[in-house]
Amino acid sequence: MEMSNQVFKTGIKELDRLIGRALIPGSFIVVAGHPGAGKTTLASSICYANMLENKKCLYVSFQEDKEKLYRNLLSVNINFKEMEEKGLLRFLKLPLPAQDEAIEKFLDKIMELIVKNDPKVVVIDSITPLLSTVRDNIKARALLQNFFAEIPKEIKGLVVLIAEIPMMEEKIMIGDIEFVADAILILRHRVERNLLVRELEIRKVRGVPITLAKVPIAIIEGKGLVMHAPPILEEIPSRPKKLYEFPCTKLRDIFKGIRKGDVIYISFPPDNRRGTIWLFIVGFIIANNLKTVMISYKRSSEELKENLYEYVRSVCGCVEKIKEQMKDKIKFYSINPAGTSIGVGSLWELSIIERENPDMIIFHSVDLLARIFEEKEYLTSLMNQLFLLKKRGVIIVRIGSKDEKYDLHASLADLVVRIDTVIKDNKPTQTIYVWKVGSDPIILDKEDIEYCIHEMMNRINEIIKERTKPK
Ligand SMILES: Nc1ncnc2c1ncn2[C@@H]1O[C@H](COP(=O)(O)OP(=O)(O)OP(=O)(O)O)[C@@H](O)[C@H]1O
Ligand SMILES: [Mg+2]
Repeated sequence: MEMSNQVFKTGIKELDRLIGRALIPGSFIVVAGHPGAGKTTLASSICYANMLENKKCLYVSFQEDKEKLYRNLLSVNINFKEMEEKGLLRFLKLPLPAQDEAIEKFLDKIMELIVKNDPKVVVIDSITPLLSTVRDNIKARALLQNFFAEIPKEIKGLVVLIAEIPMMEEKIMIGDIEFVADAILILRHRVERNLLVRELEIRKVRGVPITLAKVPIAIIEGKGLVMHAPPILEEIPSRPKKLYEFPCTKLRDIFKGIRKGDVIYISFPPDNRRGTIWLFIVGFIIANNLKTVMISYKRSSEELKENLYEYVRSVCGCVEKIKEQMKDKIKFYSINPAGTSIGVGSLWELSIIERENPDMIIFHSVDLLARIFEEKEYLTSLMNQLFLLKKRGVIIVRIGSKDEKYDLHASLADLVVRIDTVIKDNKPTQTIYVWKVGSDPIILDKEDIEYCIHEMMNRINEIIKERTKPK
């Protein structure tokens, strides 16, 4: 779909997808950001990714202490020492030129280094102190600017210029360099509900249409910079045709099959959260042999697992057999939404999905998320996540207590299952309201539910018997 003539890598797959087309010989990019935003980490990742493909890198720094930097980078899976030993990296810490007149000599020195080392990637960390040494000297500024615009052509490679943005400032302040750059990436971090939130802004990419301007990123110990760019709106995917059946006649007739990529929203009364639904989920997983991931925003993964089987135990003596069937089919995770920002939270979720590659994903206690995060931001993130999962053909189940955002949850769903409590003969009784897109809603009463469970348990037992039959 996307034609790419990308030659240089960033070390981040998703970033390559977005800006890779601009990373060709003779180009230069600016990585700007506030102190500690991750500029050095990103530039090093670019350097490293290309060294891994045997392209030499020259890293010029004015402030980083080499030993310290190498150690820090190692913790994010970037091994500069090894590259240096292989002769692929030249790392130099240079003193800044003292005054305006020295700049010419200084640039000569860098040029000399380039000629001597013949790198394909050059990183300058950073241009900001250089620009401040020349201050308002227009001639010296022009010299600097031309110099950095010329190197990429000279080396037929890629130049990464780091620019510092002072705290509280927004402007990059690199003057005309901004106009010459082939791509400008701005790293930001801010505090949201006392948590550190990082994002990457793609300000400009020459010759590449950019729709997505801001992407959440994270710097993860042992892994490095990670980002997940959700597919952009124009790419709302259609769902694959494959249908899954429900192992009970009544629900099978109502659901008319569940499609890959369907969004199923299930709600409970917050004060009557019985486990009926777990049973249906177990039945659906076993009947269709679905690899499932369950992510809870309220319970620990252990507790969630216990809850699930507890209810199965209450209706069937076959719980051990069911557990055995489910063993490789379901994985439990939990995320504390109060301990994460929405961007980083969805990053974690996507990394789980990438690792497990499930057929179905169940989000548990979605009401909490909807309440914690700002509505607009939550909705944007949610829609992007749903589209991404639809594109992958994952069945999405969202379970939560019925909340004031019920309409929002329901309007995003293809299938709505609402469990209500009604008082009948002075006793609280559950009914289930079911609506599938394109059909009329239906209400299941106690008898329907019980019959359905009965049918389903028989079916599950049959399936287990078949699967465990000695061959
Ligand atoms: N191993 C790690 N695990 C998680 N986060 C890390 C790790 N190492 C570094 N970081 C994060 O990366 C940030 C620093 O990144 P980096 O040095 O690339 O920023 P910078 O923009 O170059 O900063 P400066 O303006 O000071 O040069 C730190 O603030 C730290 O939070
Ligand atoms: Mg730095």
